[in-house]
Amino acid sequence: MKTIAIVSQKGGSGKTTVAVHLAVCAERSGKTSAIIDLDPQASALEWRSRREAETPEVITATPEQLPVLLKSAKANGADLAIIDTAPHSDRAAVAAANLADLILIPCRPSAFDVAAIGTTFNLLKVTKALKKTVVLLNAAPSRGLLTDTAAAGLAEIVPVVPVRLHQRAAYSHAINSGHSVEEYDPQGKAADEIRALYKWIMKS
Ligand SMILES: Nc1ncnc2c1ncn2[C@@H]1O[C@H](COP(=O)(O)OP(=O)(O)OP(=O)(O)O)[C@@H](O)[C@H]1O
Ligand SMILES: [Mg+2]
Repeated sequence: MKTIAIVSQKGGSGKTTVAVHLAVCAERSGKTSAIIDLDPQASALEWRSRREAETPEVITATPEQLPVLLKSAKANGADLAIIDTAPHSDRAAVAAANLADLILIPCRPSAFDVAAIGTTFNLLKVTKALKKTVVLLNAAPSRGLLTDTAAAGLAEIVPVVPVRLHQRAAYSHAINSGHSVEEYDPQGKAADEIRALYKWIMKS
């Protein structure tokens, strides 16, 4: 079982969006996935409640419950466990990072968001997770050099995922209706980039 922690001290960077999309992508590729939602706001669970499909499973938990839940997900045959965390949640972020194979930090390509990466990075320094940490540029504008500039700055401190997610209305529409972009518009550009991200993650 592969375990991915999605962590960012910055609110609204796209943690839950990425978590639910990767989980659906896994299910659509014939794998079993589970989302462990450590955010007291339980956004992933809320998305799940709007969903008609029976998968993926979303479990809300506290950081203390994480080791046991991951063991039981593995014992139940999960191929992928995705841990969604809240912003400003040091304890949950550290617990998730310590238990994950890969730590994904979604980051919008704005100066404020890029500057805030330092906070997340400093938090992860106390874990053994730093070398397994990557930044994912999310909500990138389709035009202009903003994202390239952000990527170049970030690459000096942390590896940047070669796949980018762009700012697309499909993400919000899909989330609002309890879907993923692959379900909402399977031929769309958002579905393409999510599949590319999933492929990259499963190879990393
Ligand atoms: N690539 C994207 N394109 C368009 N909208 C996006 C994209 N990524 C995220 N959003 C929107 O941005 C908002 C915040 O996203 P999301 O809830 O996934 O962030 P989060 O990091 O989980 O937030 P929080 O820190 O509050 O948990 C949501 O309304 C979501 O639909
Ligand atoms: Mg969230």
